Amino acid sequence: MKKFLALTLAVGMSLSLVACSGGGTTEPSTAPSDSGAAVSDSGSSESTGGAQKIGISMPTQSLERWNRDGSYLDEQFKAAGYETIVTYSDNDTNRQVNDIQNMIAEDVDLLVVAAIDGEALNTVMNEAGDAGIPIIAYDRLIMNDNVSYYVSFDNYTVGTLQGQYIADTLDLENAAGPFNIELTAGDPADNNAPYFFNGAMDVLQKYIDSGKLVVVSGQTDFDTVATAAWDSQTAMERAQNVLASYYADGTQVDAWLCSNDSTALGVTQAIQSDYAGSNTVLITGQDGDEANLKNIVDGVQSMTVYKAVANEAVVTLDLAKAILNGDTIDESLISASGWDFDCTYDTETYNTSEGRNCPSFLLVPDVVTADNMVEKLVDTGYYTQDADGYLHPAA
Ligand code: BGC
Repeated sequence: MKKFLALTLAVGMSLSLVACSGGGTTEPSTAPSDSGAAVSDSGSSESTGGAQKIGISMPTQSLERWNRDGSYLDEQFKAAGYETIVTYSDNDTNRQVNDIQNMIAEDVDLLVVAAIDGEALNTVMNEAGDAGIPIIAYDRLIMNDNVSYYVSFDNYTVGTLQGQYIADTLDLENAAGPFNIELTAGDPADNNAPYFFNGAMDVLQKYIDSGKLVVVSGQTDFDTVATAAWDSQTAMERAQNVLASYYADGTQVDAWLCSNDSTALGVTQAIQSDYAGSNTVLITGQDGDEANLKNIVDGVQSMTVYKAVANEAVVTLDLAKAILNGDTIDESLISASGWDFDCTYDTETYNTSEGRNCPSFLLVPDVVTADNMVEKLVDTGYYTQDADGYLHPAA
């Protein structure tokens, strides 16, 4: 269904309003925008009325996507008649604990949490559990059995899409090679990061083993190539070191696996400032951040794995409604909700502790390149395109 997103969401939300029996008072439905709610890190955005209250805890505003997630969640929950408290914790775990404790003190009815560190929220998750507050782990799993459900994209597939893109573009099955590659992964504190990396390596490893792909630096294990806090500057500095140590003699780097757009941004900057070669380096990414889409148009980043976070918010809202209504929750939520995007129900992949599977709703990521970005992002209404061909989030 190729309709403008605003229309899709407006229709989706009015259906949601009809279906909502436990949401208290309703407000007119409005299409979400990316303008950002009137919130700042640790600030709050609350609507009025005696509605049920949702605590939405996002990790940071410094990485582009979480601003979109926070806005979509805030606007969609409000449009469905809930009160919201939205916080961004500046990538500071103590602050996130504090933000969630404040939400518990405010008697929220449900928590939606995108964790900075999936291992570090134990105490506050136990406090929420003791208070009987259901918890949806949003995008990133939290290692605590009080987490009721997990909503995310298929993180492993994000990685396989990146790896397969490299394999296809370099034609690793047929070309003689060898090709040189370097690897940059995400934040070790983020449960998603190894999924992305392992997905990509499961595609690429056989070519490394056969010698068709050569990691010239020899840096292939996750901990060595990881990027704390997904920080662009950190990714750039490691890439500069790798270039200075292994490529200063004119050795060509053909591809650089980057797990997401913020790390790709740092690696691209290092290539532009510190790389002696003149070839176009194939660089992967994830998210469709505005600066990275510009780099794709300009030919300095090759692809991004796009995740429609507006849809992730839709799933979260419908799941939250079902939880608050006391419905039985399983894959029937997918058909009952009538979403016009793909989502699977998974009870095997994600464990909050050994032996405890966290029921998960996983959306499907998609590859975006210069060739398909108008079809995937502009025609669908997520972005607009300016006269120079650059994309900007739709208002
Ligand atoms: C998200 C990615 C994002 C990264 C950094 C991950 O948990 O799934 O979409 O690029 O965090 O913000």
